[in-house]
Amino acid sequence: LENGLMKAPPMGWLAWERFRCNTDCKTDPDNCISEKLFVDMIDRLADDGWKELGYVYVNIDDCWMAKKRDTSGKLIPDPERFPSGIKALADYAHSRGLKLGIYGDMGNYTCCGYPGTTLDRVEQDALTFAEWGVDMLKLDGCYSSEDEQAQGYPKMAMALNATGRPIAYSCSWPAYQGGLPPKVNYTLLANICNLWRNYGDIQDSWRSVLDIVDWFSANQDVLQPVAGPGHWNDPDMLIIGNFGLSDEQSRSQMALWTVLAAPLFMSTDLRTLSRSSREILQNRLMIKINQDPLGLQGRRVLRVQKSPLRGTGWASGEKVSQAREWLLLAGNLWGKHNIGEASPGEGLN
Ligand code: DGJ
Repeated sequence: LENGLMKAPPMGWLAWERFRCNTDCKTDPDNCISEKLFVDMIDRLADDGWKELGYVYVNIDDCWMAKKRDTSGKLIPDPERFPSGIKALADYAHSRGLKLGIYGDMGNYTCCGYPGTTLDRVEQDALTFAEWGVDMLKLDGCYSSEDEQAQGYPKMAMALNATGRPIAYSCSWPAYQGGLPPKVNYTLLANICNLWRNYGDIQDSWRSVLDIVDWFSANQDVLQPVAGPGHWNDPDMLIIGNFGLSDEQSRSQMALWTVLAAPLFMSTDLRTLSRSSREILQNRLMIKINQDPLGLQGRRVLRVQKSPLRGTGWASGEKVSQAREWLLLAGNLWGKHNIGEASPGEGLN
């Protein structure tokens, strides 16, 4: 989308994979979806060296809303969990040099059952987000027909543009259409969205990371050419710092997302992050490659089917080789674009 935003893949933090739809602030006040969680993450991003590296978006996902719109039909946040309102949160993010992202759903309800943005509400909701000073919208696609989505996603692009406020636009549309042509029209998406979710949700496991990477590489002839400055494929969040990945696997996810020119949205608890996870997420070389101004998405160039040294060894040997191919590719990219200033200590070590 040519709105001047996201010339490099966006970086930041997104609540969903780690914090889900936890609304139980009574027994779990630190981890429920509430303004406290976002203020905490804003503070961590601003104080712990993230912002300077480019991690500037703090993004709300599902379950922030009240169960009903107000009497004028406007979306409102849950009054107990967001007593100060979204505008106050956006103001706070801005005061700390960060940006605030919000979540909506093109359809009757969000995936977790909160009010959706039906076709007749698109303009009103865009205006509400702009009035609150929001900087990004992720528009999910639960509870809508193919036809409503085909009308609604472009309509929201126009409505956001009409507000006059620069609001980056993340579209989940292709993920609801199977991610591939002829159903998905990537030329259209690149015109109306800054990024789009192509495939299913990431879960907290290495298996999920590999599944996503396999799908993106199997379909790279379609996906790789459509990414570029202002319009990105989104393989979903970084799960580094959670419970499912070892440090090696975390390094691999970081390298793979780097090569894919993927948006780098961490979904982890920045308050309790281990030192090693933090070092991986703050790896300057990876960030530099990911943020390369050419915005070329990498491709898988080699798939080692079987390791010659292991005879018929397949399962674990194959997974290891897959990760290695991508790491090779990362190294290749480094050479090609002459990103040479990184010191040895900055590599994937
Ligand atoms: C489906 C999306 O793909 C996820 O990223 C998340 O936003 C959930 N919906 C929220 O319900």
